[in-house]
Amino acid sequence: MFQNPCFDAHEKAVHVFHEDSGLRAIISLHSTALGPAAGGCRLWPYESDAAALSDALRLSRGMSYKNAMAGLKMGGGKAVILGPLDPDKRVAAFEALGVAVDALNGSYVTAEDVGVSVQDMQIVATRTRFVSGLPPKDGIGGDPSPYTARGVRLGIEAAAEFALGRTSLEGLRVAIQGLGAVGSHLAGELFERGAKLVVADIDPEKVERVCDRFGATPAPVETVLLQDVDIVAPCALGGAITDTVADAISARIVAGGANNQIASASAGETLLKRGITYAPDYLINAGGIIMVASEYVGETDIQVVEDAIAEIRPRTLDLLSRARIQARPAGEVADRMAQEIIARAHAAKTS
Ligand code: NAI
Repeated sequence: MFQNPCFDAHEKAVHVFHEDSGLRAIISLHSTALGPAAGGCRLWPYESDAAALSDALRLSRGMSYKNAMAGLKMGGGKAVILGPLDPDKRVAAFEALGVAVDALNGSYVTAEDVGVSVQDMQIVATRTRFVSGLPPKDGIGGDPSPYTARGVRLGIEAAAEFALGRTSLEGLRVAIQGLGAVGSHLAGELFERGAKLVVADIDPEKVERVCDRFGATPAPVETVLLQDVDIVAPCALGGAITDTVADAISARIVAGGANNQIASASAGETLLKRGITYAPDYLINAGGIIMVASEYVGETDIQVVEDAIAEIRPRTLDLLSRARIQARPAGEVADRMAQEIIARAHAAKTS
């Protein structure tokens, strides 16, 4: 754990094992300096325990940074479940997860992420109150992915204004990798604003659906990020922008919903050297957590939530300007800003 390359002074990581349901999970709390560590629960067939731990550590640190930059009074945490779950024991597994979350006494607040649904969170909620992403009341709550997609679209607009001098997405070509909850909603957001879409997913049915609904053109999964487009939007899993991909992209902008898109610091440097604008993932995919956090703190006015999500656009423009002035990769500049916010909160808490 302490030698894991993704370890970054994490406050806590606990493993959860529930024999009856077969649940094996890791809950990682990166920081509670700003408030309860908030971040969703991911269900994924990890190839090893070590891979699951690395993902939990990396994702929870990402949540700390995301929540700090979104101005939320929330720290960063994440739960990962080592899939697959036995479908007949899914309810019992999420009940057990709820018990484990409850035992953390509110230092971690869970919600849905990849592979986990609102229904799963309803089961968790039978065992703990430290859960969000439940069915909406007065428009607040529920599946966060439409709000995530809206924020990503705002981030794409900011990047298009910054890098291409465009105030509208009309006619811009965008390649989307991954057409799950976020990618498919993003496709709708972009289509409504006149963007031309090129899309790929490992699930051909999702590709067909998005092509039918939004007049998108399918691309091979292997090369979707290398298409002749203006913008690429990684919306599948992390690590899409490897050194090789960063070298070969022909788009001017990388801006998508997936967490941890940039596989290495060198890939970020390559984008910078090649003059490709990167809108940091956690800056622009914060719409969902803004909704989740609002639900958790009992916000009742949807306009307050919408206004907070709208801030993603000016915040992205501001970050991109700072990165240009500093001549550093935008991801690195965002990380530093987030670290400063967290360090200030930590100092205030411990002084
Ligand atoms: P999802 O599981 O609904 O969608 C992921 C999609 O990617 C699936 O359709 C899957 O078939 C596809 N996929 C997987 N590997 C692929 C590949 N190599 N090439 C093309 N497609 C591939 O997950 P969701 O919720 O849409 O999340 C997507 C990303 O956005 C994740 O990285 C997640 O952490 C991030 N995110 C999601 C938020 C949310 O509100 N759901 C919030 C913030 C970030």
